[in-house]
Amino acid sequence: MRPLFRWAGSKKKLLPQIKKYLPPQYSRYFEPFCGSACLFFDTLPQKAVLSDMNAELIHAYSMVKTSPSKVYEFLSSLEVSQDEYKRVRGLEEKDLEDFQRAGRFIYLNKLCFNGVYRTNLQGRFNVPMGVKTGSIPSLSDLEAYAECLRDVDFFAEDFESVVGRAGADDFVYLDPPYSKPDSRKRGEYGPNSFDYGDVDRLVAALVSANDRGVPFVLSYCESDTLVSAIPCEWSVEHLSVKRHVAGFHQHRKMVGELLISNRPTMPGEQ
Ligand SMILES: C[S@@+](CC[C@H](N)C(=O)[O-])C[C@H]1O[C@@H](n2cnc3c(N)ncnc32)[C@H](O)[C@@H]1O
Repeated sequence: MRPLFRWAGSKKKLLPQIKKYLPPQYSRYFEPFCGSACLFFDTLPQKAVLSDMNAELIHAYSMVKTSPSKVYEFLSSLEVSQDEYKRVRGLEEKDLEDFQRAGRFIYLNKLCFNGVYRTNLQGRFNVPMGVKTGSIPSLSDLEAYAECLRDVDFFAEDFESVVGRAGADDFVYLDPPYSKPDSRKRGEYGPNSFDYGDVDRLVAALVSANDRGVPFVLSYCESDTLVSAIPCEWSVEHLSVKRHVAGFHQHRKMVGELLISNRPTMPGEQ
């Protein structure tokens, strides 16, 4: 199934490689930096825990899960035009009912520039309308998403507490924002988003998960610091991926990325 949201940094292109690390069976699927959760929607596990520090994103998923028709009622009342986009973007979350807040989030996500989520210092979404936009979901689309999300628990939290809840029967996929020591914060995912200073915290959370027997795979940009910080028995796969630079379709280049796991891939698939 296609993800419900458009999302910067989605790992659609890496899905075949990432899926090699999935255990044949697991109890719950955890994705603590879920964004559009493209691996979740591709594999549709029975039970899952999806979380992200973006509270509006998590609120929208939760409302689609519990009240798809109420969300659709509001969404379908909105026109697709520049003027309407600016009006909806200007609405304050605190003045909206829960289902309207979710409808607003879906509307802006589908129509904004490249599915980017960026806010100003006051936390107000400030991305302009895009030219190449997504389509507004129908009621039956939202009902189909609600069905997929039936056994999903959602948390708007930092990754560390969520990884801490996974057990040996579960599987965790982590996809934090990529960051370099010298890169300026671009505010791609809002204030306080994961950055280079959080790499030690990430490694500590994974070492603790590994000690509890929790299988995981982490996708990240090439980073000598990260590779030298992890236990040597974990596998490190180096990949080269064509990516858009700074969100512009015409600028593409090959970039190095990593898959780090405490699990072997399926025999013969490496
Ligand atoms: C690269 S995106 C994940 C993309 C996702 N794999 C997909 O398929 O769309 C990274 C996500 O991490 C979230 N994030 C950033 N810092 C975080 C933190 N400290 N804890 C939890 N989530 C965080 C961002 O809001 C963003 O949605």
